Amino acid sequence: MISMTIPSYVGSMAGKDFLNTNDYTQKEIAAILTASDDLKKKFRRRASTEYLPGRTIFLLFYNRSLRTRNSFEAGIYHLGGHAHFLSPSDMYTPTLPEDMVPYQTEAIADVGRVLSRYGDAIAIRVYGDAAKWVIGRGHKIIEEFARWSNVPVLNMEDDVYHPFQALADMKSILEVTPKPKGKKFVVSYAYSGGLKPLAVPQSCVLIGTQFAMDVVLAHPKGFELEDSLIKSARENSDRYGGSFEVVNDMKEAFKDADFVYPKAWSPKSFVPPYNITVDKNGASEYQDKFKDWKCTQEMMDLTNKGKYMHCGPADRGQEATDDVIDNQTYSLYFEQAENRLHVQKAVMAMIMGSKRR
Ligand code: CP
Repeated sequence: MISMTIPSYVGSMAGKDFLNTNDYTQKEIAAILTASDDLKKKFRRRASTEYLPGRTIFLLFYNRSLRTRNSFEAGIYHLGGHAHFLSPSDMYTPTLPEDMVPYQTEAIADVGRVLSRYGDAIAIRVYGDAAKWVIGRGHKIIEEFARWSNVPVLNMEDDVYHPFQALADMKSILEVTPKPKGKKFVVSYAYSGGLKPLAVPQSCVLIGTQFAMDVVLAHPKGFELEDSLIKSARENSDRYGGSFEVVNDMKEAFKDADFVYPKAWSPKSFVPPYNITVDKNGASEYQDKFKDWKCTQEMMDLTNKGKYMHCGPADRGQEATDDVIDNQTYSLYFEQAENRLHVQKAVMAMIMGSKRR
């Protein structure tokens, strides 16, 4: 039998939920990212990292996915554990109390407690149609799981936060710039014909300010992020020593940027609680006015030899041109996708591992 040293980070956050990076201090997030460095190196040399033998994570996807699903499934396997993929339409759909339908849905309170009897963590993705386009409802669903489950709950993206994406993004930034304090990080709206949630820009802004970057949020009028999120970003800047500003001009924002993250999100005034009904047509018509919010080589030329970032999937030709996304010098697109694997393995090892004495 091959002996293996178990790193001290395994089990160091045993039993905790992971719903939002801002629930953790900068020091704790840094510890996760350090653990992810170790796991990335070991992955590259195919060293054994079976730190969670026999552990099971349930992956409940109300929405589709490429990166999140496959990086979680591969990641838990690398750690010696196992993932169960769960599709809400193939079970009694886990539902909040106010939306129950006899024999079609099952209370999240019950689903959480049942799955807790079988495994070691429950991870959930829910936003958009699955959360009825009521901003905050997806997060409420995940909080309901966290309330009732007896094992850790992980947020694989809801309509407010995408914390694992933010971890991968910060890891990608640190790999370029080990000291990100004071670097200009632009989180910008970029046009897409689809309606995308607020989760990625909101989590980007939070983690950028948590690492004392000079964060600039750029968007047309009507694409404001949640007030509570802006407040948290300002608090992070005050606490950790960076800066945070909001502008309505993409070119102004890109000037001298070290990192740019142009991506789409939806104008929130067309959906509840900011509108009485869900007006997807109205939202689409409004965002169609901003097709010129696109990341091109000319836009990249405004930056300080800045790096291009996107969580994926990027809408090619809309959010950014192919030559930007595929640029070998400055695009971090595929590095970010890979880093999802390493940060998620770190969190699973820390949260699902046994606490050592
Ligand atoms: N970035 C991200 O979450 O990708 P998927 O939607 O493919 O999971």
